[in-house]
Amino acid sequence: MKKSLKLRVRQSGLVPLKVFRDLPDGNLFIAEGRRDIPFEIKRVYFINSLANPKAIRGKHAHRKLEQVIYCISGSFLLQLDDGRTKQRIRMNEPSIGVRLGPMLWHTMSSFSYDCVIMVFASARYDATDYIRDYDEFITLANSPAMTPTKLAKRT
Ligand code: TYD
Repeated sequence: MKKSLKLRVRQSGLVPLKVFRDLPDGNLFIAEGRRDIPFEIKRVYFINSLANPKAIRGKHAHRKLEQVIYCISGSFLLQLDDGRTKQRIRMNEPSIGVRLGPMLWHTMSSFSYDCVIMVFASARYDATDYIRDYDEFITLANSPAMTPTKLAKRT
């Protein structure tokens, strides 16, 4: 992933962290809510032991949840789909996250053996916020209520 990467999908964007590079003594990455992360962080989860190279995670969108996803070790492929535009991003830079805003279908795959994914979320877990059916997502994403202006007002 290049720092100059332009995200073409709606409801996304790059979210860089503050970094203090001090090699060989380590790098320090900092994520402060409402500063580095564009919302108050209510939940953090991480995924490791992605030993199955054929694993596919995600395959859903959220109705309201805001998230930012980081690959803090190794690499994986993040596929985004806003209902009109699709984009594939090779996630391999720990300091650069990708915003997963509402109504953005996301899929993670092609994990390296050492991949660790970390996600910051704007709300506690709520199963009713998930859209897991792709056809339903496409219908909702292309409904008049999901025009770019109306989406901007929701967030
Ligand atoms: P899921 O979101 O489907 O994982 P992924 O999108 O990465 O493939 O979550 C897997 C299971 O974990 C599911 O049963 C819901 C549960 N879960 C929680 O209970 N709390 C959470 O914060 C998350 C992210 C998942």
